[in-house]
Amino acid sequence: MKFIKCKDINELSLLAANNFKEVLTQKANPVLGMATGSSPIQTYQNLIKMHNNKEISFKNTKTFNLDEYVGLQPKYVFNSYKDFMDKNLFDFVDINKNNIHFPISWNQEVDINKTDYSLYDEQINKESGLDLLILGLGNNGHIGFNEPGSLLNSKTRLVPLTKNTITANSRFFDSIDDVPRYAVSMGIDTILKAKKIILIVVGDSKKEALNVLKQATAFDINWPCTALVNHKDVTVYFIDDNK
Ligand code: GLP
Repeated sequence: MKFIKCKDINELSLLAANNFKEVLTQKANPVLGMATGSSPIQTYQNLIKMHNNKEISFKNTKTFNLDEYVGLQPKYVFNSYKDFMDKNLFDFVDINKNNIHFPISWNQEVDINKTDYSLYDEQINKESGLDLLILGLGNNGHIGFNEPGSLLNSKTRLVPLTKNTITANSRFFDSIDDVPRYAVSMGIDTILKAKKIILIVVGDSKKEALNVLKQATAFDINWPCTALVNHKDVTVYFIDDNK
């Protein structure tokens, strides 16, 4: 795992966007894994700029998002990860909307007893896997919505969100009671199958998780991000706050 210290969010977001540029310009049919959250917003803004400057095109690109909420009230459609991606990237680039994939639709009726969504993994495999996957980091070390306790061999599945995550994400809702209790997320195994992974770490609340990751030599089930030590092409971008 490579750790790259950045001086600020601008530098981090440019370096992250350059990873996309490399794949988008080198591969004929790129397959991208996409993350939501506040961390990648500027990275996606850079991609829009690069697209406007005709440096990159998404014409032949397929995307697979990491996760989506389950049971989101319709009034919070703007908090769906589908909406986030449209507003922060997809509406501004030349991607074919048929090539955009989510593990479920945000407004899909879901039986919470059905947890297996590994068809999504099969769909990704059929496209010969993800060429590049961008990840953010949860305060508790989650990646996607793989909360502590997630298994290394986990596939795409329905997951209950932890109290920590519900509290962290309540900033986007009128009340904490409105935050969905479930999501469908790529599993850790799904994530580790990506050919190249970039993890962007933004925010003071990630400090503990980042330190655990820096020191990790093996997977620790209490810190899902440590699964990344088992992957051969991971770059972690973080901001140096000792300036
Ligand atoms: C959310 C998402 C993650 C994201 C993380 C951090 O719960 N499911 O994919 O990486 O939390 O979010 P943020 O970038 O807003 O700090």
